[in-house]
Amino acid sequence: MANLPSPVSCVPRHVAIVMDGNGRWAKKRHLPRVAGHKQGVDALRRTVRACLERDVQVLTVFAFSSENWSRPEDEVSGLMNLLVMALSREVPKLSKNGVRLHFPGDSHGLSSRVLQGLQKAEQTTVHNQKMVLNVCFNYGGRWDIAQAARQLVAQGREITEEGLCETTALAHVGDPDLLIRTGGEMRISNFLLWQCAYTELFFTPCLWPDFDAAELDRAFADFAGRERRFGQTSDQLTMTQSGASPHA
Ligand code: IPE
Ligand code: IPE
Ligand code: MG
Repeated sequence: MANLPSPVSCVPRHVAIVMDGNGRWAKKRHLPRVAGHKQGVDALRRTVRACLERDVQVLTVFAFSSENWSRPEDEVSGLMNLLVMALSREVPKLSKNGVRLHFPGDSHGLSSRVLQGLQKAEQTTVHNQKMVLNVCFNYGGRWDIAQAARQLVAQGREITEEGLCETTALAHVGDPDLLIRTGGEMRISNFLLWQCAYTELFFTPCLWPDFDAAELDRAFADFAGRERRFGQTSDQLTMTQSGASPHA
């Protein structure tokens, strides 16, 4: 893929997205909800391409939450089928474009057909280095913190912040710089609870199937104007940027 110049000056290294609004997109068109999820796959394809063009290093998307099991059975099975189909169709192209896939989430409860699809996609793309795509599937922030704590206990380690950073499900990529949620809701819905401690948040009413590069650029332009203070004062940041010690 061509290495196009970034259209905004400050591209986040790691972007996370809550891809919400598929059902409402379908309802507006008197279509079944699963038709919205199908369009959602197209929106994800566009977004991956746009992120590659803008040199985003890591894209982490929320595809199925721990709570989504409580949806109607036919919607849940529709989402499982869509995942398996999308993987078999998209992985070769993703791999050609240098995308490495991961599927953070709880493997318990997933069928062997789904698990095989996830494992194959991870194996096929293991050597790719242009961008990491984390598709969070059967993921919940509370599950993640609990499983990380269990790992530390099993290793006989103390439960510390550093330990949890090493064992939570995004340890391989670090924390997101920007979290985008489409669909207009202003909540986290049990996504990356541990990892979003200092992530910049961007909420848009745009429904996920309508999301495109222009909407991504709006989020990036907004991000570029944020001052990330990490607890410091604005003056301290200015001093640090000009080379002075913040403790002076
Ligand atoms: C997000 O879209 C996709 C999943 C949760 C799998 P929704 O299906 O939640 O769409 P809305 O919120 O009902 O419009
Ligand atoms: C969050 O969307 C989960 C995903 C996008 C996969 P939901 O639609 O499930 O969130 P709530 O239930 O409205 O908070
Ligand atoms: Mg929703």
